[in-house]
Amino acid sequence: MGMRSRHQKAFGLRCYPAGHRSVTLLLWSLAALVVVVNFHLLIIHKEEDESMSTHEIRRSIMRELEAVEEEKLKLSPPRSRRNPRAVRRKGERKPPTIVDEFLDESSAVHDMFFPELNMAVDPINGGNDSMYLYYPGRVWLDTDGKPIQAHGGGVLYDKKTKTYFWYGENKDGKTYKTHSKGADRVDIVGVSCYSSKDLWTWKNEGVVLRGEEKNVTHDLHKSNVLERPKVIYNDRTGKYVMWMHIDDANYTKASVGVAVSDSPTGLFTYLYSKRPHDCESRDMTIFKDDDGKAYLIYSSEDNSELHIGPLTDDYLDVTDDMRRFLIAQHREAPALFKHEGTYYMVTSGCTGWAPNTALAHAATSVMGPWETLGNPCVGGNEVFRSTTFFSQSTFVLPVPGLPGSFIFMADRWNPSDLRDSRYVWLPLTIGGVPDEAADYSFMFPLWSRVSIYWHKRWRLPDGWRDS
Ligand SMILES: *[C@@H]1O[C@H](CO)[C@@H](O)[C@H](O)[C@H]1NC(C)=O
Ligand SMILES: *[C@@H]1O[C@H](CO)[C@@H](O)[C@H](O)[C@H]1NC(C)=O
Ligand SMILES: *[C@@H]1O[C@H](CO)[C@@H](O)[C@H](O)[C@H]1NC(C)=O
Repeated sequence: MGMRSRHQKAFGLRCYPAGHRSVTLLLWSLAALVVVVNFHLLIIHKEEDESMSTHEIRRSIMRELEAVEEEKLKLSPPRSRRNPRAVRRKGERKPPTIVDEFLDESSAVHDMFFPELNMAVDPINGGNDSMYLYYPGRVWLDTDGKPIQAHGGGVLYDKKTKTYFWYGENKDGKTYKTHSKGADRVDIVGVSCYSSKDLWTWKNEGVVLRGEEKNVTHDLHKSNVLERPKVIYNDRTGKYVMWMHIDDANYTKASVGVAVSDSPTGLFTYLYSKRPHDCESRDMTIFKDDDGKAYLIYSSEDNSELHIGPLTDDYLDVTDDMRRFLIAQHREAPALFKHEGTYYMVTSGCTGWAPNTALAHAATSVMGPWETLGNPCVGGNEVFRSTTFFSQSTFVLPVPGLPGSFIFMADRWNPSDLRDSRYVWLPLTIGGVPDEAADYSFMFPLWSRVSIYWHKRWRLPDGWRDS
């Protein structure tokens, strides 16, 4: 509703009364313009003939990425047997929602979203016709045939080795609660690293930042929390720098941790933790801009707002500069990316391990102001779109050679067995008119829509690496 009226206001041309003579002049001017434009187009057409084929290829690639599959949910009839996790909601009259069922490990709906190991994506034994296929939500095996452990992760492209490195939380331990009101958790194992040339076949490079077994005062002691590790390369110092969320089991420490390594495969040396700008910091990410400046983005003030600030030149600390944005919006899981000079971000709401609706945001300056564009999810059904396809954002990876195309990386958390949480990778593109953004300039919306397309299975277009 609101958007429509804004549209009309923005597109409404103002008319000024004009005399007869000026109308004739206007008509002649228009005729002249048409001739000039036609002539111009003729020239452009000639010049573009050769590049047309690559243009067409790119178009068809975009169409392929934007194709949408519908997902029909078949809900099984209500069961009498319910697990203890669901008992909590016994007092409520409301029937369980699909999200409740999704979280309930005894439900058939849960099984649908966490298909068994025999459905795994297996790059080594997968065979030809499944090569390079992403199946969001299926177990994803590494080259050793073991499920990939890289949750809340991010991908670094290393120019030196022309290799992708995927860093994430290794949650390969037992899920438990420290006390009845505590969150489901897994002890810190450390940060895993996987390497790949094709973004599909991943080799385990081991735990590159290790949890601490004995020293109970150490940030990385297994009883604490390490989440959302992200790595960027510092061109000045030649070091790989990792930032992560460091917390205690009750999430009261609310800090960031920093680690550093000479090699992308570690080992990383843990440096310290702190509250950036003396503020709480929980879900976070870092972003390295084209000019080599890097930024920390984090949820603060009880997760009610986001903060952004530049890192120091060596990326080992924050500077004093900080801006608050999306104030009182309660957003977390930020994933920042850039396209044609505009900054974009996807965030989630704050509902613990339960999935919720994603939002896309945009800004012309990375420090803001940031504006909300609406829910980026396209396809599937309404439940899929309102739950970020039952997952939570963690990173957005530009697809090399395909400007405007990205891989949206998200986690489908399994709170009953966090190590079995799944990865949801989907194509993300930028283009078209946004749902919500209010800013218009010269009658055109200042922002483009961010779209994440649902696919049960998909692959990157052939030859994306050399395009
Ligand atoms: C793919 O097919 C070719 C030719 O049939 C075969 O040589 C190759 O081993 C297959 N690769 C996989 C991964 O199955
Ligand atoms: C335990 O960790 C703390 C904090 O990092 C450190 O100051 C202390 O030296 C460590 N103790 C041992 C015995 O390594
Ligand atoms: C977490 O909170 C519980 C309950 O308030 C308390 O018993 C426990 O000591 C706290 N643990 C930490 C690590 O702060």
